[in-house]
This record gives sequence, C-alpha cells and structure tokens, in this order.
Amino acid sequence: MLGTVAAVLALAACANAGSNPVGYTVASPSSVNLVARGAYKGSLSTLQVDGAYTSEAPPFLLQLEGTRYEMGYDYGLLFGIQGKAVFESLLKSILGDSTLAPLEQGALELFLDWQWNDYMASELPEQYHEELRGATAGGAAAGVPGVEVGTLLTRGLVLANLPGSLEDLVYVLEDEAAHPNATSTPSYQALLGAVRSLGEASVAQFARRLVTKGWQPLSCSMIGFWGNRTADGRVYTGRNLDWLANTGINAYKVVTVFRPNDATAHATLGFGGLIGALAGMSAEGITVHEANLEEKPESFRGFPWMLRLRYIMENADDLTSALKLWNSTKNTVGFNHGIGSAKDAKFVVLETNAARSAVFTDMDPREAAATYTDHYNVTQQIGFPLPNAVWRTNNPFDPGMRANFLWSQGPHTNSQERYQIIHDSIVDIERTGARATADDIINVTAVVGQKGDNYYTCGPLPHEGSNVLSVAFDPKSQVIYSAWEANSGDNWVPAACSTFVKLDMSQWF
Ligand SMILES: *[C@@H]1O[C@H](CO)[C@@H](O)[C@H](O)[C@H]1NC(C)=O
Ligand SMILES: *[C@@H]1O[C@H](CO)[C@@H](O)[C@H](O)[C@H]1NC(C)=O
Ligand SMILES: *[C@@H]1O[C@H](CO)[C@@H](O)[C@H](O)[C@H]1NC(C)=O
Ligand SMILES: *[C@@H]1O[C@H](CO)[C@@H](O)[C@H](O)[C@H]1NC(C)=O
Ligand SMILES: *[C@@H]1O[C@H](CO)[C@@H](O)[C@H](O)[C@H]1NC(C)=O
Repeated sequence: MLGTVAAVLALAACANAGSNPVGYTVASPSSVNLVARGAYKGSLSTLQVDGAYTSEAPPFLLQLEGTRYEMGYDYGLLFGIQGKAVFESLLKSILGDSTLAPLEQGALELFLDWQWNDYMASELPEQYHEELRGATAGGAAAGVPGVEVGTLLTRGLVLANLPGSLEDLVYVLEDEAAHPNATSTPSYQALLGAVRSLGEASVAQFARRLVTKGWQPLSCSMIGFWGNRTADGRVYTGRNLDWLANTGINAYKVVTVFRPNDATAHATLGFGGLIGALAGMSAEGITVHEANLEEKPESFRGFPWMLRLRYIMENADDLTSALKLWNSTKNTVGFNHGIGSAKDAKFVVLETNAARSAVFTDMDPREAAATYTDHYNVTQQIGFPLPNAVWRTNNPFDPGMRANFLWSQGPHTNSQERYQIIHDSIVDIERTGARATADDIINVTAVVGQKGDNYYTCGPLPHEGSNVLSVAFDPKSQVIYSAWEANSGDNWVPAACSTFVKLDMSQWF
C-alpha cells in the first residue's frame, strides 16, 4: 500500500518536472568545501552541487569580513588570480586572436584606466577606494602577475558601465569633452601613445575600431511581484544578465558574501574580477537589479553602478532609505535598475539616464498610457502594467526617457517581446488561482532569459542566446536561487537552462 502511494507520488513528481518546458533544475549544494583561508577573516570555498556544473569548476563561495582594507585584501589574495583569468578570457573573446590583439588589449586597458582615473573614480565613496587598495596589496601577496588587482577591478567596473551599444560611448566622450579632464593627465597620454602605435589617429578612432569587434547589443531583464500574488504577500524578485556568452568566464562563477564591520552584510552573484553587484541581496532583505537602457544623456561622472548597488544594500533597510540614497548619488549611463525590499514587500524599478531617475512601481499611469506610433501612423499600446508586479526589459516608459531613448522601441522589438512574456507569465500564474511561490519567480525569470529563438524551451545542443546569469530572490527567507551559464563551445548552456543553486544566505550573513 505504502509502495503504491510512493509510486504515485513519484509519478506526480515526474509530471511536475515535465511541465517545466524550459528545462532548468533547482538544487541545494550538497557540501561547502574550503579551498583557502584569507589573511584576515575571509575564506574561499566551492559549492558542490551534485549533477550540475560538472564540466567546469563548481560555483565559488568567497566570504569577506572586516574593515574595507581587510575585505579587499582577502579578495585580492583569494580571488585575484581568478579575476585576472576572467579578464583575459573576456578580452580574448572580444578582440579575437589576431596579431594586433595584444596591442588592442593594451590600448583597451589603458582606455578603461583613463576613464576610471579621470572620471569614474571621482564620485566613488572612500570606503570602496580602501577596498581597492586592499585588493592590490592582497593580489601582490598572492603573486597575481602583471597587474595590480585594484586596477583589474576598476577595469571591470568601467567595462560593466559601458553603454549596451558601444557606438553610444560617443555620448560619454562628448560629455567628457564638455567637462574636460581629458587631455593632459598621465592616463590620457598613456592611452594616446598606445592608440597611435595601433595606427589610429585619435581615441575616437580607436573607439570606432572597437565597435567593429562584434560587440553585440546587450539586453537583460528584471521582475518583482508581491501582495495578493504570493502566499503570504511577500515580494519575490528576479534578474537575467544577457551579455557576452560562452567566453569561458563561467569557470569563475562566484557568490561573494561581504560582511563589512561598518555596514549591512550582503551578497553578490556573478563572476571573478567584479567587486560590485550584477545582482545581490542584503541581510536586511534589499535586492538589487540591472538591465540595459540606452538613454541620453550619458556620463561617466557618476557612481559606478555595480558599486552603487552594493552601497544601497549596505546602507538601506527599506525602499524609502534605498531611494533616498539613490537620489543623493549620481547616475551615469542609461540603465534600468530595480530594488526589492522584504520589509515593504515591494519592488520598484528606476529608469535612469545621467540626468535623472524615473521611479516606477505597479500600475503606473505612465506605463498604462504608453503607446507607440509607427511610420504608417498606426498607434499601439506598449505598456501593460499589472497590480502588485513591476518588471522591465530594455526600454523605458517614462515619456522623458522615451524621448531620449537610443534604441528602437515599439511592438516589434525584442525588448517589447520579453516585456510581454513576463506579463503573460505573471498572468498565467494568476489564472491558476494559486499564490506564487519561489518556484514561480524562478520559472518566470528562467523563461525570459535570452536562450536563442524560443524562450519556452531549451531544446537540443548547440544552444544560442546570451543568458549568462539568471537569479531569483526570496528576500523574506534570505534565500537566493542563482544559475550561471555552463560548459563551453557547442556544449554551452544558457544560465536559465542550467541549475539554479539554492543559497540559504542566513548561514553566511
Ligand atoms: C581629473 O583627473 C585626475 C587624475 O587624473 C583626478 O585626480 C581628478 O579627480 C579628476 N577630476 C575630476 C573632476 O574627475
Ligand atoms: C489583488 O490586489 C489588487 C490591488 O492591490 C486588486 O485589484 C485585485 O482585485 C486583488 N485580487 C484578488 C484576487 O484579490
Ligand atoms: C527619489 O527621486 C525620485 C525621482 O525624482 C522621486 O520620485 C522619489 O520620490 C525620490 N525618493 C526619495 C525617498 O527621495
Ligand atoms: C501621419 O500623421 C501626421 C500628423 O498627423 C501626418 O503629417 C503624416 O503625413 C502622416 N503620415 C502618414 C504616412 O500617413
Ligand atoms: C513556467 O512558465 C511557463 C510560461 O508561463 C509555463 O508554461 C510553465 O507551465 C511554467 N512551469 C512551471 C514549472 O511553473
């Protein structure tokens, strides 16, 4: 009798798995294996996840604790080598392996250093400069060859802050020409030398050369729902990073836990070489998100967004304090950002350009009224807000933002298609009459990750798409579900088709 019940239950479990057309799995780590201890309170471990990420290193767990310098030092010591490997892998995939690639790489690095030293560094709060100094010292102690780890990390911050279409860097350069700090500094002179040795007459000419390197426009998406959509009204949030796929950086997947002695503990999900947050959650239940939004004006005279998201996690405990901090710091290039809060049980999105932020939550009248008129004068609705949910892909709904938007908008864009998919997925859950659970935020997030032609199935290898990171958050329970791209070459698998690793962060906060 018991046997029959077990068989029926097993069948039900299979049927359940079968109804997940996307094909991802969800698994908890079976063990946490210490790799090394830092010089201070930091440590590096791997997260063993049975049956997942088998052809590469398992996700790392990097824990940092103490003063800013101590956290930075242990970062450089424990993960500087991996950070450098990520950078080499990325640049090789961007620049190819022509004979000029090493010269191009050198010039690109000097370009990133110039932008950091002369512009981006100026708005960065001192505590992060201190982390970077620590990282350089820790990296030197680890013998990271050829580069200071602090510099490596600032290159990662600038790279992540570039516009989604590299052509649009021209607006950043125009902003800098209007606020010159550009032509006499040592960073600029070093860059100019490198650019000339490549046979280019100017930095602008070099930027044009980079644009031809097949840098595809980037995308991304973010989602939050709450209130009567979920079992106890809690907020669930999610985010996809659709970026440069299959570059080999997935060998350095990492969950970084920061426990600063002067701020709230928080965690980021991503890859080596990134000291900021692509996505993250704090011990106070704040979640942070990002998606591209190609939007004028653009500037690098602001707070590099990956560290700004950590700053919010470190210092906010609800939406009001998060938005207050947001408003008191400066935007850079156009991005959509998202902030979730367990205390408020709510999610907001911020459409930004260098000049301002437009804050949205559910049922915003600007979104409800948004229409697009094509060149045949046909007008169609493009905004479909829902109660107790808000989400974004890569287009804005604020009228002022729309007027300055640099990419196509309208019903036939990929951004609109994914916006619609999220809408429909949320409505699908509502139609079942059930209150959403963590399984549902994982599913909605996984569905909309860029995985090639069909969002609803992963299909057979080889996969296409650009989904390198897919993360769902249950901040009330302090749980993160994080999936990374897996494998390489023709065996590459988008994050949303891979394994979401269930991370109970309460054990590490
Ligand atoms: C200009 O660049 C120098 C370093 O090259 C830097 O110290 C200074 O803060 C920069 N000024 C601004 C306004 O960014
Ligand atoms: C859920 O809440 C929204 C507004 O907060 C309301 O419009 C809607 O009717 C509610 N749905 C149910 C099923 O109670
Ligand atoms: C932050 O700025 C936005 C946009 O200007 C505004 O809507 C919001 O009320 C501000 N919030 C706080 C807490 O300052
Ligand atoms: C569209 O409408 C505008 C203003 O109403 C008009 O000037 C224009 O000729 C129309 N274009 C087409 C293709 O009908
Ligand atoms: C995931 O979402 C898709 C699209 O809404 C739906 O068809 C599918 O049944 C969902 N799967 C699970 C396991 O919830």
